[in-house]
Parts: sequence; structure tokens; C-alpha cells
Amino acid sequence: MTAIVLLGPPGAGKGTVAEVFSEKGYTHISTGELLREEILQETPLGVEAKLRLDDGKFVSDEIVVGMIRNILGKAGAADKFLFDGFPRTLIQAESLDRLLHEFGGRLAEVVQLDCPDELIIKRLSGRRTCTECGTVYHIAYNPPSCADKCDNDACDLQLRSDDAPDTVRKRLGIYKERTAPLIDYYQGKGAIRRVDASLSIEEVRNAVLEGLGT
Ligand code: AP5
Repeated sequence: MTAIVLLGPPGAGKGTVAEVFSEKGYTHISTGELLREEILQETPLGVEAKLRLDDGKFVSDEIVVGMIRNILGKAGAADKFLFDGFPRTLIQAESLDRLLHEFGGRLAEVVQLDCPDELIIKRLSGRRTCTECGTVYHIAYNPPSCADKCDNDACDLQLRSDDAPDTVRKRLGIYKERTAPLIDYYQGKGAIRRVDASLSIEEVRNAVLEGLGT
């Protein structure tokens, strides 16, 4: 079992980069997506998580680590995972190390997407997501062919509820306080590579893939 971690602030383009990994046999695990699925299904976890997400706050380490444990516990030796949005705290990073050890996996690489705050605000305010299939667009940088409609299924596109400007500022503050320290954590292990995520979508994807030799 192999794992790659994509780190970076909200809106840096983790989900956008992750799309190309699916074509390379990686299972894309976005903890944000998993939580939004729980919210959609109105499960007890989803009801609790909605309050946290809408307010730009993290859900508890215990919940998120439990979700990852369930996935890794069912995985086989040949499985390859791309983690997007996990780990997000030092406790989660240490838990991932322990889980990989327990299930015989290894962390192949951590890729940090670096992106300045002004650009993050522009990216998140222009992000639109398909209400049906979840495909992500940007009104200027990656627009759909027909305004406000998904290219795949013609369903409506919407702004994510946590992309309101005040919530984005809060998410950025929490990222700096709780997630940015993971850069040092992984630098200490010699496992991190930094990529300039302010470039175009194609350039960022190529830079991430080039270094992996996939
Ligand atoms: P999550 O869904 O993971 O959100 P996030 O990390 O804040 O990241 P985003 O999905 O907002 O951005 P992204 O980096 O994927 O950017 P994207 O590719 O969409 O988590 C949401 C919430 O869930 C958290 O706030 C928290 O509450 C909770 N949560 C999740 N995981 C958790 C955990 N482990 N622990 C605790 N709580 C957790 O791109 C953004 C836009 O920019 C798009 O419109 C895209 O088209 C455009 N774009 C992307 N790249 C480029 C580029 N290179 N050039 C131009 N435009 C670009």
C-alpha cells in the first residue's frame, strides 16, 4: 500500500491536481468530500460536521482519523492512495504514520502546493461545483462551456457554502495555525516537495507529476 499526501491551503488546487492521479491508478481520498457526502446523506456524523464546515472549522481529529482507518483497513497491498485535505493537524499526521505502519503501507511523498492568499480568495470566490457529479470549475480560469451548467451532465453549478469570503478568511487563518506546521513535520522526515501552485492548472499538474515519476 502506497500513499501520497497533497498539502496546501484551501483553494490552492489540491482537488484539481488530484483528478490526474485517478488516471494513474490512485484512489483519491478527500476528507472534505467524504464529509460533504455525510452531510448530503444527513447521517449523525454529517449533521455534526455541517456546523463545523459551514463555520470554516475543522471536524475532530478522532472523526477524521476514524474515517481513514476504515478505508486503509479494507485496502490491499497493491492499493495506491492520494490523500487530499488529510492530514490537517499534527495529530492527524502522526496518526497517518501509525496507520500506514499498522497496515503495512508506506508514505511515498508529500507534495505541498504553495499559493498566496490573494490568489486563494480569487480562486475560491470563482469556484463553482456541479450539484450532481461534483465536477469543479472556475468562472474565469476553468469555465464550463455553458455558463452555470456542468459539461458532464448539464446540471446546475453552485458556490460551496464554505466559500463565502468571511468563511474563507477563517479557513485560511486555521490553515496557518494548524496545518502549515505539517510542512516542518514532513521536512524533518525529508519527505516533502514544494510546488508553486500559482501557475496555470496544466503547469501545476505537470510539476506535481514530473517529480513523482508516475
Ligand atoms: P476541503 O474540501 O478539503 O477543503 P480545503 O482543503 O479547504 O480545500 P478546497 O477544496 O477548498 O480547495 P482545493 O485546494 O481542493 O482547490 P480546488 O482544486 O477546488 O475541506 C472542507 C472542510 O472540511 C474543511 O474546512 C474542514 O471543515 C473539513 N475537513 C476536511 N478535511 C478535514 C480534516 N482532515 N480534518 C478536519 N476537518 C476536515 O481549486 C479551487 C478553485 O481554483 C477551483 O475553482 C479551480 O478550478 C481553481 N484552480 C485550481 N487550480 C488552479 C490553477 N492552477 N490556476 C487557476 N485556477 C485554479
